[in-house]
Amino acid sequence: MFKSIISKFIKSKGENKEVNGKVVCGCFKVTVQDLNNAIKNGANSFEEVQAVTKVGTGCGKCVESNKVLANELLLRKKVDENQVVCGCFKVTVQDLNNAIKNGAKSFEEVQAVTKVGTGCGKCVESNKALVAQLLAK
Ligand code: FES
Ligand code: FES
Repeated sequence: MFKSIISKFIKSKGENKEVNGKVVCGCFKVTVQDLNNAIKNGANSFEEVQAVTKVGTGCGKCVESNKVLANELLLRKKVDENQVVCGCFKVTVQDLNNAIKNGAKSFEEVQAVTKVGTGCGKCVESNKALVAQLLAK
């Protein structure tokens, strides 16, 4: 799903302008660029993107599609920056990806290889979602 949506939105540099200007919430004229800016400025979840941009807080009909889009953009940032997603074991997105490349097919299998989420446990939920997104790629 990651690939399909991102590739639809971000195919090439030439198309980026057009994509970034695409209005994804008619009520507040929010564009893809607005979502990306919110994420660049530190929004770390759909709710945080929503707080900054108001996306989906009008009629509500765009909420689900923008949740998916914001999560894809957040994932892209994590991957691009190879962020540490589990402080306890310094696990990066690349580590999760490598585990998947080497055959892990579930969060539990990724966890067995990387130890992600087996320390304080506070990163488990976000990494479950992240691994699900990476597995869907
Ligand atoms: S179109 Fe986004 S809240 Fe109405
Ligand atoms: S931050 Fe991942 S287990 Fe503590």
